[in-house]
Amino acid sequence: MLIHENVAMKNKTDISVFEKYAHEYDLMTNARQREKDHDKEVAAIVNRFSPQSVLDAGCATGLTSALFARRGIETVGLDRSQKMLSEARKKYKHHDYPLRFQFGHFEKLPKSLHNKFDLVVSLANSISGVHTLKELYTAFSNFHKTLKPGGSVVIQILNYTGWKENELRPIRVTDNDGLVHIRFSERQGRKFHVYVIRLDNRNAEPTFEVFRHYFDNFSAAEVTRILKEVGFTKIQKFADLKFSEKFGMTSRDLVVAATKRASSFFA
Ligand SMILES: C[S@@+](CC[C@H](N)C(=O)[O-])C[C@H]1O[C@@H](n2cnc3c(N)ncnc32)[C@H](O)[C@@H]1O
Repeated sequence: MLIHENVAMKNKTDISVFEKYAHEYDLMTNARQREKDHDKEVAAIVNRFSPQSVLDAGCATGLTSALFARRGIETVGLDRSQKMLSEARKKYKHHDYPLRFQFGHFEKLPKSLHNKFDLVVSLANSISGVHTLKELYTAFSNFHKTLKPGGSVVIQILNYTGWKENELRPIRVTDNDGLVHIRFSERQGRKFHVYVIRLDNRNAEPTFEVFRHYFDNFSAAEVTRILKEVGFTKIQKFADLKFSEKFGMTSRDLVVAATKRASSFFA
């Protein structure tokens, strides 16, 4: 067996599994199955905020964006990965949803997006692509600018607490006709390591690659403080995207919703 190891960590410029294999992201994350569950979460978000326009910040291959757009909501999926965006465009090119995909970094959003959206969502740990509290401030400030007065933001951080130090936990294993992805993670203090083993058994000579990247978890207190500092109000914490449970110290995930003032000095 050919063994090729690619450990993408420490150096942020190292290629990650998502960048190298963007075209396998949906297989790796079992998008078809996820879509059914996620549709119910998007329904709950739509029910709560009734948006006419949505910015999906960190859209990857566009699953969340399309679930909004197919409800007739004007949606922009934004991502800093050109490869992810090209997968998203390919997937939805035959749909007539009010949907487009745009390149951009949360930390440097163009003025053309200012004051345009009723809702910004940044789900499934997309915000973990922001590395420092200073960058988080810039990203939230940019989300605030893209919202119309009275608009809202929803941030979802996964696997938040209840994770013991140095404990390895499975995320998901997928096997698509011999293309196997095994994902698991480990918490070390604020650092959350994600490992991906990719085993391609489809050819005579199987290949095996290991990827690892980490991000620093932002705490609930940091997220709420910075949302407040950039001008958001009505900040609420939940344990899930259906807003059915309040966030607590034993919650696995953190969902924070906040609103831009209807008439804002921070616009
Ligand atoms: C884990 S994926 C989540 C994708 C999607 N929200 C979902 O539910 O499948 C995170 C995505 O966010 C993007 N991302 C992370 N940090 C970003 C940043 N600072 N600016 C723009 N995109 C970012 C990544 O390129 C990646 O495609």
